[in-house]
Amino acid sequence: MSNVDYEDYLRSWFTSVCDKLKNNGSLYMCGDWKCSSAMQRVIEEKLTIINRITWQREKGRGALKNWKNGMEDIWFAVKNPKDYYFDISSVMMKRKVIAPYKVDGKPKDWEESEKGNFRMTYPSNFWDDISIPFWSMPENTDHPTQKPEKLYAKIILASSKSGDFIFDPFLGSGTAAVVAHKLGRKYFGVEINHEYCCWAIKRLMNSDTDPSIQGYFDGVFWERNTLNDQKKSVKKRNKKDVQLLNFEELI
Ligand SMILES: C[S@@+](CC[C@H](N)C(=O)[O-])C[C@H]1O[C@@H](n2cnc3c(N)ncnc32)[C@H](O)[C@@H]1O
Repeated sequence: MSNVDYEDYLRSWFTSVCDKLKNNGSLYMCGDWKCSSAMQRVIEEKLTIINRITWQREKGRGALKNWKNGMEDIWFAVKNPKDYYFDISSVMMKRKVIAPYKVDGKPKDWEESEKGNFRMTYPSNFWDDISIPFWSMPENTDHPTQKPEKLYAKIILASSKSGDFIFDPFLGSGTAAVVAHKLGRKYFGVEINHEYCCWAIKRLMNSDTDPSIQGYFDGVFWERNTLNDQKKSVKKRNKKDVQLLNFEELI
């Protein structure tokens, strides 16, 4: 499909989606480098883009004559740049301190504890803590382009309040709805493929009994490969917690 055709395709549904967006609502659109510039142009016809997040998704198909595609753009746009909901405190990241800097013998902007040395940081527009779902992760389905729950959790927590509506016009295996449900938001979505709809319904049913989101734990987002540190932060562990945390090791 040519760039012009792709832009026309985007316009064919994007205007209707924007009409449904609340005046203080936000829209996130994700795509790789090939479609990203067309997305930017079409979004800017209706909304104000206020950031472009780069998601370093880790895995990608190898190519002999090109660089492996390991990132996606996520455009963050709003209807009204002077009035939109955004809660940065709900998406803080917990990072290990590599070079523990001290002033007068005391940690500078980090916490020293028996569980390790950590600092809380504001998330930037470069997301390198989220992998695409692996075969061994509980959230994984056979959907070919399933997004990680952790990715949606960041977006939903930052840009919506409990009880708000989350809409995904390309629902796939249901990740947006599942995460919205787990985080106490209302949801609706559209998906053309019946089998994918069945997977989404199954995931929604499972989320009633298991509302955990891999990589989001104790109200903070953990970086990759922090399984042991997350374990230490669990005060009362039950068997299920341990099982879920073990899967995190694979990220
Ligand atoms: C990139 S995938 C979404 C994956 C989803 N975020 C997830 O985590 O599973 C896009 C989805 O849009 C669906 N789709 C494509 N054209 C559609 C249309 N016209 N109406 C509804 N769904 C459509 C595809 O079947 C596919 O599942």
